Amino acid sequence: KTIIHKPETTSTQHIAHQLAQEGASHGTIVIADEQTKGKGRMNRKWHSSKNEGIWMSIILRPAIPPHKAPQLTLLTATVLADVIMKETNIKPYIKWPNDIIIHNKKMSGILTEMQAEQDQVQYIIIGIGMNVNQDIKSLHKEIHTKATSLKMEADKEFDIRYLVQKILQQFEKTYELYLQKGFPVIKTKWESYGFRIGEKILIKTMNHEWKATFSGIDHDGGLLVRNLDDGKMEKLYSAEID
Ligand code: BTN
Repeated sequence: KTIIHKPETTSTQHIAHQLAQEGASHGTIVIADEQTKGKGRMNRKWHSSKNEGIWMSIILRPAIPPHKAPQLTLLTATVLADVIMKETNIKPYIKWPNDIIIHNKKMSGILTEMQAEQDQVQYIIIGIGMNVNQDIKSLHKEIHTKATSLKMEADKEFDIRYLVQKILQQFEKTYELYLQKGFPVIKTKWESYGFRIGEKILIKTMNHEWKATFSGIDHDGGLLVRNLDDGKMEKLYSAEID
């Protein structure tokens, strides 16, 4: 498998898109020490300081229809949670769909982008951002109150190369499992890390906010919630929760 390492780049997502367009194979990895234009979901900025975190993108060419792509985001979240749990003994939570939370603060995020044609996935790029060795001083001011790093939670420095290796090994193992057994195994694992399952949550969609009970995720990876007003079950594919 090809791993492309850049000391500095705009965004590994950007490089991965270019490579995928040029035909890069399934499993190609792009990783950077620093990103000058790291991007997060919803067009947000992703702070990616030099040598303090994992900034990488994985190119996949799965034989799945586009509507199943969210499953791979959830799969990746379980991979990160498993590695964090193993390396720190701290139980992380996954906030739907893909934030890794420790002590109510965000440590890691995933950005999945897809290129599809006629109900056929051309490629999927899974971007992984993980705050590793930042301390309160180096964590960007804008995210101080909401974000954390592995070091801040576990009180020690981590070897980034070693963590990347563990993540890639675990990713490969979990991906194989997913191909053999399908999404149910991933769903069970995801729910074991699920943040606020069974609790009342605030749902923010494009033009409104409402409260509901978080029931779990469905077989596609959508969010299952019970509306507090009429008791009806609803399924959401795109929203933010709080
Ligand atoms: C989010 O939680 O909003 C997703 C953050 C994803 C950040 C990663 S860092 C590597 C890859 N390159 C980017 O520009 N973004 C993703």
